[in-house]
Amino acid sequence: SAEQRAADLLERMTLAEKAGQMSQFVGLKHIAESEEKLSPEQLINSDAHGFYPGLNNDDLIKMTENGEIGSYLHVVDAQEANQLQQYAMNSRLAIPLIIGIDAIHGNALVSGATVYPSPISAASSFNTKLVKKSSTETAKEMRANGSHWTFTPNIDIVRDPRWGRVGETFGEDPYLVTKMGVATIEGLQQDDFIGPEKVIANAKHFVGGGDSINGLNIAPLDVSERTLRQDYFPPFKAAVDAGVFTFMAAHNEVNGQPSHGSKFLLNDVLREEWKFSGFVVSDWLDVDRLHSLHRVAKNQNEAVKLSIEAGMDMNMHGPQFAKAIFELVADGRLTQEQLNDSVKAILVAKFRLGLFEQPFVDESLAETVNFNPEHQKTSLAMARDSIVLLKNDHNILPLKNIKNIFVTGPNANAHTILGDWSLPQPEENVTTIVEGLQQVSSKEVNIDYLDVGNQVKVLSEQHISEAVKRAKTADVSIVVVGENPLRFDNEGKTSGENVARAELDLYGKQLELIQAIHSAGKPVIVVLINGRPISEPWLVENVAAIIEAWEPGSFGGQAVAEILYGKVNPSAKMPISVPYSAGHIQSIYNHKPSTYFKSYVDLPTKNLFEFGFGLSYSSFEYSDITLDKSSIDTSGQAKVSITVTNTSKVAGDEVVQLYINDNYSEVTRPVKELKGFQRISLAPQASQKVSFTVTAEMLAYYNLAMEWGVEAGDFSLMLGSSSRDQDLQKISLNVKK
Ligand code: IFM
Repeated sequence: SAEQRAADLLERMTLAEKAGQMSQFVGLKHIAESEEKLSPEQLINSDAHGFYPGLNNDDLIKMTENGEIGSYLHVVDAQEANQLQQYAMNSRLAIPLIIGIDAIHGNALVSGATVYPSPISAASSFNTKLVKKSSTETAKEMRANGSHWTFTPNIDIVRDPRWGRVGETFGEDPYLVTKMGVATIEGLQQDDFIGPEKVIANAKHFVGGGDSINGLNIAPLDVSERTLRQDYFPPFKAAVDAGVFTFMAAHNEVNGQPSHGSKFLLNDVLREEWKFSGFVVSDWLDVDRLHSLHRVAKNQNEAVKLSIEAGMDMNMHGPQFAKAIFELVADGRLTQEQLNDSVKAILVAKFRLGLFEQPFVDESLAETVNFNPEHQKTSLAMARDSIVLLKNDHNILPLKNIKNIFVTGPNANAHTILGDWSLPQPEENVTTIVEGLQQVSSKEVNIDYLDVGNQVKVLSEQHISEAVKRAKTADVSIVVVGENPLRFDNEGKTSGENVARAELDLYGKQLELIQAIHSAGKPVIVVLINGRPISEPWLVENVAAIIEAWEPGSFGGQAVAEILYGKVNPSAKMPISVPYSAGHIQSIYNHKPSTYFKSYVDLPTKNLFEFGFGLSYSSFEYSDITLDKSSIDTSGQAKVSITVTNTSKVAGDEVVQLYINDNYSEVTRPVKELKGFQRISLAPQASQKVSFTVTAEMLAYYNLAMEWGVEAGDFSLMLGSSSRDQDLQKISLNVKK
């Protein structure tokens, strides 16, 4: 078995080879490309950029040939992967490299990849099948390009949308995040990741990256252990149960202890309680930060010791980790044996991936696998399922009897639809919104596009006044605004990794542009391209329609246009609440009963849009909520059902949602919590009975004594089309001791 082979190999390894397996480095081409873009000052600042002062490419090659590097990340193509593997094959034990990459929604750091809608879009689709399929396809594209390991899924629960990384998460709800995370892992690893088309997934960031104070990346998380266990842990525990083989620790500290040095998280919970048997990788330079930032270690060596003793197995990235290991072992402060479990798990991964048999990849594969027609179809299908219709006054959409459309806005003809974690993609692989409209509109429709540049931060007065003139002559205006998540646009980006915002409004003069166009007196449709919620009450009150397109990927423009014309009926639902303003954070739907006992004096207290909300061109009616029994015991289960009828003339998909509430409890409970969802398709006038099994376990929680269990009493079961009270029907289930 892989375990036996790993144990056997381990016996023959030197200290340097073991430390090498635990050390990851950045791919040589990526270093070269990144450093070209940096000024000498930035290059010197190792915090801004951590590439290896004092080491050049030849040194890294030599280290690989000496077995002192076990992994690379961000290797950009099969040629580079093979070259690096060849160096590793020259080493004494010829241990292949495991190559990791952030293939977050497609293998999009590689040019020519299929870019799927980003995870926040995927979550909006409530379609786990497509998420799994896209992940399987991503795995194929990765392997064809020489990578074996992706740092996804990001299963952080987002409670502060000012954080820049909302787009790469599945939103705010523990249940939805869990389902999406598991689907991703199953798609990528397909049970055991044995075979040439599968890759290893990575559950990150353990834990709490999505709720750092003030929304700033890396800032602390301070929560009760109850909240940790109840809300933040479930997606990670489910990831372990789904067989995820790697974890990444979070940048942040949790309750005073940085995750990278937390024995509680990395050992006691992850390994002892959950029986995780894979390996943990650090986040970028975060072992060093135990010393340099958090100051829980007096020097670099202490940081490495703390981290390894807590349960860290691999360092991302650089030579300092191995150097510290040598010094610590020489001083008798760390033993070689303490490294064995880490090295063994890393070797098991390499054996299971089949890398000892075949470390190289056929360099001609990428051309046929990247962006192949099947993958394109999946990306488009996901985009269609993930675009949320938030507002549709007087059924302005789908567009009908329109001759002249005016289109503008910084995201109208931009690659921002690709989202974060994508590098530039070939023009011909990306359908922007203007291109989508040109492609989908009938010949009679005239599309007048005003290019105002692609920067959400910069809009000129001249463009704004030109837009008003052009809007006057059109039947309708489509204004495409939002955020810029583009990783390669250092100046322009407003969301993505390390791009937190203090406000959630439309950046720069975007609102001014919309208001000016609105003053032309014709209906305005706003399309949002964004990786985090946008809080702009004026839009909600004034424009005719709002489409939340998130980051819809390579075919985003086509999917948006199809929805505008009704060729596709929107069916997605919000995976995150949209607060009225940044000052309203936290704005989560699963809040406690007293959260909104009082109101703000200056602004409305309500959210702009609620979790689970999304409109359709169909209308669905919910009726006859029933339970097959009114009472269960603490190990029992019941079936709750409801009939959904499409009362319109349009076929459509609906996401039926199940929420629960514990009416009275020893510890206060959220007003509602999602516990199930089903996506159904209904023809015009068709009805379907939709049922959910509710187990007592689904009603359990941590009581005052921190014991997990179900309390006797009444629980409300709520079924409907969103988390809003007016969209839910209720029935009561009694639990008896
Ligand atoms: O995987 C990422 C992580 O999520 C954030 N820091 C960098 C890593 C590698 O790119």
